[in-house]
Amino acid sequence: MPRRNECGCRVNASRPLLFQPLALRGATLRNRIVISPMCQHAARDGQAQPWHLVHYGKFALGGAGLVVTESTAVAEHARIGTADLGIWSDDHVPGLSQICDFVRGEGALIGVQLAHAGRKAFSEPLWEGGRALTPQQLEADGLVWRRVGPSAVAAGPEWSTPDAMTEADIAAAIESFAAATRRARTAGFDVIELHFGHGYLVATFLSPLSNRRTDRWGGTRENRMRLAREIAAAVRAEWPEDRPLFARLSCVDGAEDSWGLDDSVVLARALADLGVDVIDCSSGGLSEETRRANVPRGLGFQVPFSKTVRREARVMTQAVGVIMSPEQAEAILADGAADLIAIGREALRTPYWPNEAARALGQAERFETWPLRHAVWLDRREALLRQLAQDDTSGTGT
Ligand SMILES: Cc1cc2nc3c(=O)[nH]c(=O)nc-3n(C[C@H](O)[C@H](O)[C@H](O)COP(=O)(O)O)c2cc1C
Repeated sequence: MPRRNECGCRVNASRPLLFQPLALRGATLRNRIVISPMCQHAARDGQAQPWHLVHYGKFALGGAGLVVTESTAVAEHARIGTADLGIWSDDHVPGLSQICDFVRGEGALIGVQLAHAGRKAFSEPLWEGGRALTPQQLEADGLVWRRVGPSAVAAGPEWSTPDAMTEADIAAAIESFAAATRRARTAGFDVIELHFGHGYLVATFLSPLSNRRTDRWGGTRENRMRLAREIAAAVRAEWPEDRPLFARLSCVDGAEDSWGLDDSVVLARALADLGVDVIDCSSGGLSEETRRANVPRGLGFQVPFSKTVRREARVMTQAVGVIMSPEQAEAILADGAADLIAIGREALRTPYWPNEAARALGQAERFETWPLRHAVWLDRREALLRQLAQDDTSGTGT
């Protein structure tokens, strides 16, 4: 009788947990390693470029179970930066499709992070300073731009004040997620992740600091959660039943009297009831104020959020944030703190992190998890190195 874990998944006792496959609806991740969404600021008018194919493709070659794209804008004015990937037009589909085909061809699943930047639309890439672009700059560049939010409250002193959304604006935002889902299906993505964190549109509705509305979209927690729920329901209705849906939350804003972990547990449960399969547990990003008061950073600093959400809301979770070594990742899974491990910057440093982890945890003896075209050469060299070491110790290496 195969052993099953608390999620009902089969577990193979002889395998590290990090390399136990995970079946989600009709899709199976070959291991528990997810490449976290990371903005590349390399698209043109939302269109994927050769950069994206190489960038995401290398993570598939590196052995990840799931590769998730950067925030991919559901509307032209909803971009985090001018050069974000977009999915607001059918013209974006062929470029995204090419990435899907390559990544899946190398054994990983491919996910798209659907995002609406709300009042934090259009900032510079970090290497240019990361500042908010001013209305003058945006107009000079001829961009279609509009910063929107639940209320006319700016994200910080450097940000222009957003328009408080009307009922029609909210309906259009929900529809833009639904339309993006239809395109994601056509492009061939396996997974959608909804970006509900980091101070972007949905996060601003959740937090009472940014949401001052008195209608059905503001006030009580239930009302502030309404947009998240309506988007999740609209996306689930368009997304095939057999494909998994994730949602990334900022589990805490990091400010007093704001959105907190208890709220995230309630939202996670509500989203799970609407058909969200995994809650990706991040934090922060709402405003300058909360950035200053943010959760102290350190190795695995957001893992406790994932553990609480998983235990209290009884949902599958993904842990993220300064997870660097295979041993650390394995310990998080062994502690029951998460079902999936997201790797961000460490994968930028070492795109082959999953393959290296397989060797470090004893899952792979040689290079069998590497792409075949490379593995055969690496295996041969390993055999040679072993032989040389043996000759050396037996005194025949001269
Ligand atoms: C270059 C870069 C771009 C990022 N862009 C996104 C993004 O598009 N969407 C998102 O949810 N998080 C984004 N993040 C946050 C990462 O997904 C991740 O949560 C964070 O880097 C912490 O994980 P790490 O310590 O493994 O890097 C970005 C991080 C980096 C380093």
